[in-house]
Amino acid sequence: MSDDLMVPEPVRVLRRQQELATTWTLELESGRAGRRSFLPGQFNMLYIFGVGEVPISLSGDAGQSETLIHTVRAVGPVSNKLAALKPMDTVGLRGPFGVGWPMAAGEGADLLIVAGGLGLAPLRPAIYHVLRHRERYGRVILLYGTRSPDDILYAGQLEEWNKRPDVEVHITVDHAGDDWLGKIGVVPSLVPTLGFDPEDTVAMVCGPEIMMRFTVNALRDAGVEDESIYLSMERNMKCALGHCGHCQFGSTFVCKDGPVLSFDRVRGLLSLKEF
Ligand SMILES: Cc1cc2nc3c(=O)[nH]c(=O)nc-3n(C[C@H](O)[C@H](O)[C@H](O)COP(=O)(O)OP(=O)(O)OC[C@H]3O[C@@H](n4cnc5c(N)ncnc54)[C@H](O)[C@@H]3O)c2cc1C
Ligand code: FES
Repeated sequence: MSDDLMVPEPVRVLRRQQELATTWTLELESGRAGRRSFLPGQFNMLYIFGVGEVPISLSGDAGQSETLIHTVRAVGPVSNKLAALKPMDTVGLRGPFGVGWPMAAGEGADLLIVAGGLGLAPLRPAIYHVLRHRERYGRVILLYGTRSPDDILYAGQLEEWNKRPDVEVHITVDHAGDDWLGKIGVVPSLVPTLGFDPEDTVAMVCGPEIMMRFTVNALRDAGVEDESIYLSMERNMKCALGHCGHCQFGSTFVCKDGPVLSFDRVRGLLSLKEF
């Protein structure tokens, strides 16, 4: 085991921006020069000294890795402290870890990117990559679902992407007031309305597990092969290096073999509650 990868490096917070009521984006120093280039879908371990360490996805542009962007929802002791960090505060950083989205395997195919809630954060680097290399991909469709209009993450950016002629953006919310003119309903219900070619489509899905389960069902019903459906799995992690077994499922280590896994590898994992 490399000691290096087990030891958090202290880095400074450069900027902090509120996204939603309980969700903040942090821009961090990237630490040791040249060590922090990352792939879309990878994550870092962020350590609040004396409190704990949690996995958080990289949500910025991998083509601009001079600083590191993380979007954090405050749900418990560590994420609350992370979300409250201010510029010039210090946080411990290890990473990047894991296997990311199939950006190379998706080349030449149509891409169906499906995000639920905060699941848009780990997918955002994939979207940046696709837009940077737009000519390598066919049709690009982004489906995004949240609970309400107030929970739409990166709303300004979604609007910008929606203006592009080469990206299709569909947003739906579970419930909304009369002032919402968009779609209402769960995100998997959008899949049958798209009219895409399932044999030539690579799907990337991230969100709460229940949303991913229903989305996978909708994709399979539409004819997308299990090998072409990729999911980002969230499991409790400790080492993030495939050593402690904390995230292990059968022979799969979610930290090292994932977090992005194709559905044919993850079928059993999706139906299990987290341990
Ligand atoms: C690969 C990977 C990438 C991740 N990326 C991000 C990210 O980009 N942004 C982010 O905010 N979080 C992300 N998470 C989840 C994040 O690691 C957890 O929210 C964090 O570990 C919670 O730690 P805590 O000590 O704050 O709360 P805990 O005490 O661990 O949890 C507090 C409460 O929140 C619940 N909870 C914990 N995690 C989640 C969750 N993921 N979803 C819903 N409820 C949860 C717990 O069941 C508990 O009730 C990621 C997780 C993994 C495995
Ligand atoms: S977190 Fe230790 S093996 Fe995956």
